[in-house]
Amino acid sequence: MGTEGADRFHHIDRSRMLETVVAGPGQLIEGWRAAADAAGLLSSRRTPMAICGMGGSAAGGLLLGDLAGAGAPAPVHVIRNYLLPSWVGEDTLLVCVSYSGDTEETLECFHNALLRGNRPVAITSGGRLAEEARRAGTPLVTIPGGLPPRAAIGYLFGPLLRLGAAHGLVDVDDETVARAVHRAGKIASRYALEADLAGNVALQLAKKLYGRIPLVYSGGGLLANLPYRWKCQFNENSKSMAFANVFPELGHNEVMGWESTERMREGFFLVMLRDAADHPRVQRRMDATYAMLEPLGAGATLLDSEGPPGRAGRLERLLSLLVLGDVASVYLAVEYGKDPTPIDKIQEIKDLLGTEDR
Ligand code: F6R
Repeated sequence: MGTEGADRFHHIDRSRMLETVVAGPGQLIEGWRAAADAAGLLSSRRTPMAICGMGGSAAGGLLLGDLAGAGAPAPVHVIRNYLLPSWVGEDTLLVCVSYSGDTEETLECFHNALLRGNRPVAITSGGRLAEEARRAGTPLVTIPGGLPPRAAIGYLFGPLLRLGAAHGLVDVDDETVARAVHRAGKIASRYALEADLAGNVALQLAKKLYGRIPLVYSGGGLLANLPYRWKCQFNENSKSMAFANVFPELGHNEVMGWESTERMREGFFLVMLRDAADHPRVQRRMDATYAMLEPLGAGATLLDSEGPPGRAGRLERLLSLLVLGDVASVYLAVEYGKDPTPIDKIQEIKDLLGTEDR
């Protein structure tokens, strides 16, 4: 992009979200390190892990669950609500994540956990969650503040990775994290504003999605929650409607929605995210479904994760497509002439509820 294009870009992306997401992979190392003390308190008990958080602060938990996957010795549950499930007891590894520290659903889970005799780990940049964790003497992981939570995914995911590894649910160490961050950083640099347009898949994708509704699909497994992350980023950054779903389930219901009227279908753009380790029958289903749906909407694209095969490459492959979605959503925002940072409607709802007595 020339100087004039870059100036126009920065005029819209006033808070420089693009630079933040392109530099984003580096946050993961800092987040991983920030949780060293809290992880030191855990033993490799391999019991269920519950993570409370909302929106951008829930995303790291969803990614951790996918990384742990079907081969994990115990499940990772993400709780995005006010209530803790009754199975969460004093021995459950519970982590409350709120970037601002002031999200009421997460604070309520934190309070409930204390009442049950649990000592939840808090991950936050400050706010009431930090204060209350200090007061209660529970483990506190403090991460750098000042960013929109969704743009702090590495700070939020890194500590969870470390806690999940210490608890025996994911097989990740310093070296795995360093390798994944290195690869994700290289991939992200291909999507920077200054990068060569021919290799900037994020910008090319944003241009294809302009004026369309992205329907983001994956094959479950490692990428199970990535379509949802992409959807949220298109919602919050690009201010665009978007939908997410996963195979094989979508082949049993949503696929029929592609028989909508032509007027509706011409707004759909199919984005299919694939991982080499997707179940072979799921791969077969994805190929057949792609061939069936591609001619029906406004366009379609297949995007493959990048990284070494096998379990050892899972984190690298997951981050490769996380970065692509994050950056593409920022380019799409600018294509629409929208600043990716403000989230007025989300804030309005928080402000409204914040003024009410409970
Ligand atoms: C904002 C964002 C939101 C927040 C959510 C919870 O960037 O992504 O989804 O993450 O409203 O707020 P926090 O993260 O402060 O607990």
